[in-house]
Amino acid sequence: MDLEKYSGRSKHELDTPCLTLDIDIIADNLALMRDFVTAAGKKLRPHVKTHKCSEIAKQQLAAGGCAGLCAAKVSEAAGLIAAGLTDILITSPVVTIQKIAALMECAKSARIMTVIDNRDNTDALNLAAGESCLKLKVLVDVNPAMGRTGVAFEEALELGKYAASLPNLELAGIQCYAGNLQHIGNFKQRQQSSLLMMQRAAEVFRQFRSSGLNCEIFTGTGTGTFNIDSEIPEMTDFQVGSYCVMDAEYLQTGGSANPERFDLFKPALSLQASVISVNQPDFVTVDAGLKALYYTPHAPPVVLNQPGSGWRYEWFGDEHGRVYFPVPSMKPRLGGRIELSASHCDPTINLFDSMWIIKDDIVIDCWKIDLRGCCC
Ligand SMILES: Cc1ncc(COP(=O)(O)O)c(C=O)c1O
Repeated sequence: MDLEKYSGRSKHELDTPCLTLDIDIIADNLALMRDFVTAAGKKLRPHVKTHKCSEIAKQQLAAGGCAGLCAAKVSEAAGLIAAGLTDILITSPVVTIQKIAALMECAKSARIMTVIDNRDNTDALNLAAGESCLKLKVLVDVNPAMGRTGVAFEEALELGKYAASLPNLELAGIQCYAGNLQHIGNFKQRQQSSLLMMQRAAEVFRQFRSSGLNCEIFTGTGTGTFNIDSEIPEMTDFQVGSYCVMDAEYLQTGGSANPERFDLFKPALSLQASVISVNQPDFVTVDAGLKALYYTPHAPPVVLNQPGSGWRYEWFGDEHGRVYFPVPSMKPRLGGRIELSASHCDPTINLFDSMWIIKDDIVIDCWKIDLRGCCC
């Protein structure tokens, strides 16, 4: 990681491509979300799928207001446990034999919950929990008309009753995460769609309770809808992810205050790239392509460190990108530094082993992206 070599030096001296994280900006983002969620009477359950970094997870917990953490994968949960973090909800169904076995291992040393959306899988989890002499907490995953995972609103109660009837499972509530609504550009449309979905999920939550089922948790929401779903009284915790570092996809959606730009949270994460070829008249080639920067054409990385408009990054292959500049006089020099926002933070972070921690443009630390590659 070369921390000794770079500590105390300018971020512009780091070799590229590399990720940098501004410690003050992420601290502001964490505090803002904590304050909002706490004022709304809810808890945070930050999703580590965004950053894959147990050090950031520790910062999120230390910022306060958390009921625990979320992980997308059992292997992410195992990584968190190895780092001493032990309150984890796995937000996707755990189905394969290998993953169920790994889940039981995790549940032996941590407070683990997982979601269910199918009777056979519920049976399999109950059996495995029994064999491991465990009682496994589960949430019924409710499908917000997205179809990725989850049972239909009308079928949730039946699955909840079934899970509650099994000896080795403990039903704890519901999850409803509307990933399909998070990036709706127009805030009012996003608001209408999300409230509609979450009100239906809240009805499921009330049904569970009126049927005498144990239902303490109603978890869901993301960075795009947290300040919308906070209006749902039944919702107990917010499994937000991207807010901590932000990315171009989120920044280009409309926010509650600014319809042009979702600027409530600031971009804390950057990709540092260097100009490696200047032989073309209207663009320069940089050393960051698809292997350093996950690219979504509808929200390309934004050039952050150059003055004025007219800068544009375009994907140019596995190892390369091209950067267009506004006028010939602004052509970057060979070896010049280009700082970019990520198109989408999650898959970009997952490309790196570590990120440099920056304060006032100076390197102060290097954090391992220890859950990187945990895709099982
Ligand atoms: C199940 C689940 N919960 C929470 C999140 C976090 O969402 P966001 O990054 O929009 O805050 C995600 C992101 O994809 C997710 O899949």
